Amino acid sequence: MNQSFFEAVLELVEASRAHEKYRAADCINLIASEGLKSPAVREMLRLSQDLECRYAEGENDLEGHVKVRYYQGQKYITKIENYAADLMKDLFGCNWVDVRLVSGTHANLATFKGLSMATKNNRMVVAPLSCGAHISHDYTGLAGEVIGLETIDHAYDVNEMNIDPDKSAAVIRKTKPGIVTFGGSLFLFPHPLKELREAAREVDAYVVYDAAHVLGLIAGGQLQDPLREGADFINASTHKTFPGPQGGVILANLEDKRMRVGIKSVQHSIFPLTTSNTHLARLPAMGLAALEMKVFGVELAKQTVKNAQVAGEHFCENGVKVLGEKKGFTRSHQIAVDIQEYGGGKKIAENLEEANIIVNKNLLPYDDPKNKKNPSGLRIGFQDVTRRGFKEDDIKRLCDLMIDVIKGKRKPSDVREDTIALRQCFKEIKYGFQSIDETVKYAEKHG
Ligand SMILES: Cc1ncc(COP(=O)(O)O)c(C=O)c1O
Repeated sequence: MNQSFFEAVLELVEASRAHEKYRAADCINLIASEGLKSPAVREMLRLSQDLECRYAEGENDLEGHVKVRYYQGQKYITKIENYAADLMKDLFGCNWVDVRLVSGTHANLATFKGLSMATKNNRMVVAPLSCGAHISHDYTGLAGEVIGLETIDHAYDVNEMNIDPDKSAAVIRKTKPGIVTFGGSLFLFPHPLKELREAAREVDAYVVYDAAHVLGLIAGGQLQDPLREGADFINASTHKTFPGPQGGVILANLEDKRMRVGIKSVQHSIFPLTTSNTHLARLPAMGLAALEMKVFGVELAKQTVKNAQVAGEHFCENGVKVLGEKKGFTRSHQIAVDIQEYGGGKKIAENLEEANIIVNKNLLPYDDPKNKKNPSGLRIGFQDVTRRGFKEDDIKRLCDLMIDVIKGKRKPSDVREDTIALRQCFKEIKYGFQSIDETVKYAEKHG
């Protein structure tokens, strides 16, 4: 350390304070994997500070409820976990859930490991990394390096920005995987679950849908309904379009022996294989977020997708290339823009950052996968600004600021003032409750 231990503590506190103002008040946040919690959900997290100190190891039953706990002092913790589980099952229309996952990556770890044990098959078909899969799906990441799965790529159609159903069916039939995975990080259009469920069944593969990004859209009835379209399991983060605390969840329907075997193996893989403490303090807040999605989810998800589509159209009309144009740019919360002609993803993301507009550079499906440091694209997500109340015209204003930066019409530092001014017009967080009191009153009234 260059400075003393005590100076480092002061810097740490100062940086934490500064961060809260910078990203929460002065920036416009368009990272597609982030989420925004309501005041009620934040208050619930503050109220759950003792839970933040506790442990609750153990096993769950086949309804996703607590079965065995190995520590004392669990009488409320058990209730909290069971109610959190029930709220998620109800919201997503399924009869099994596990809420003990601490992240979306953990949900993938538990599911991939559990199902590969259940099937005694270590092959998994996934979207190629450069076409939007998450690193945890890939042989270079969790799936390959940690679990030892052999990953095989879905056939991907760049023109459609989607998995090619016919060619992928042939891949599945030929390679006979134990798991077929859908979903991803760059994720614009519904994946062909209905079209591929039969091929997966023929080879006895479980179908896993990674909804880390799109769980809130699913709750709001947008994009697709994986459990009804052919997914056996949904894995997700609870903090992206689903506006809860950082955590993970797995959802499924226990409807036959095959699912019983799969679920039991996933449960074993959650405990004892991959958890000890399951980070309990997030559970009440996740339950409140589930209620918010039940009440406001449809409106929120529809406006989020609408805002993303409007942005796609506006960029396109102003000469910035947006992928998926012929299909309306997107059906999710994100769009993918190709800014190669303006200097590439790295430069433009950094310039936008200087203008306090936060996005991430992204590989596009036709990029050389080795070119991660300077890919052609940006991935832009609209869930945060939508929750702050941005509507179509506000999105166009925001896009105009971005276009000024992308095309080098104005210096990013000059745009920054306009970004902050635009951000200041949206002081409330919408589509949610403003306090626990308000939440309780709503539940009492409708109970
Ligand atoms: C498709 C997908 N799966 C899993 C994850 C990992 O989620 P988490 O960050 O909650 O571990 C991400 C992260 O963005 C993702 O995009």
